[in-house]
Amino acid sequence: MLICIPKLLDADTVAALRARLDDAGDAWVDGRATAGWQGAPVKFNQQIDERSEVAHACQAIVASALERHPTFISAALPNLLYPPLFNRYSEGMTFGLHIDGGVRINPQTGRKIRADVSGTLFLSDPDSYDGGELQMEGAQGMQSVKLGAGDLVVYPANSLHQVTPITRGVRVACFFWVQSLVRDAGDRALLFDLDNAIQRLNQAGADDAARRTLVGTYHNLLRKWSET
Ligand code: NI
Repeated sequence: MLICIPKLLDADTVAALRARLDDAGDAWVDGRATAGWQGAPVKFNQQIDERSEVAHACQAIVASALERHPTFISAALPNLLYPPLFNRYSEGMTFGLHIDGGVRINPQTGRKIRADVSGTLFLSDPDSYDGGELQMEGAQGMQSVKLGAGDLVVYPANSLHQVTPITRGVRVACFFWVQSLVRDAGDRALLFDLDNAIQRLNQAGADDAARRTLVGTYHNLLRKWSET
């Protein structure tokens, strides 16, 4: 399930991030640095060197916004977060169809992370570039996503996806992976739906005992399916 989370970052935070990234000079390197030999042939973009100071500063901003966002927590059920990366596509750049690597090594801790959830946080005004749509294959065929600056999309990391070629302007984004408490995308989707339904019942002031049962069911399913 593809879940869009508008305004993960407000306009001021996006502007502050963009100022750092746009000024990063030599820290921008070939995107194939993190692609692995299987993904490298279809990847044509630039990335911020994940060992650079600018990467660390920007990672902290995104990670703290993710940790505080209830919809992200509910959708991804995060256990471990791979330090967010930043990429840039200028005219002609693209990332062809691929599935993200299954296991990554966190460069800061050396610890392995299983990529269950992929995230893309858009950092460019969508009117400022053409192309650059994130497309992923889902149950209903190919879905296209192009969101506003500061908006996030999360989707199962086992989905086939691509970034279409840029035909005008520049697309800057942040991307990351999450090892979820709940490995299976279908199980995560059930918990997300259940959580949303419970929130709506809370707002509607629905029957207390029924809500208690549903909240208990949510947590008992989470207990059953989670691994830490
Ligand atoms: Ni990808």
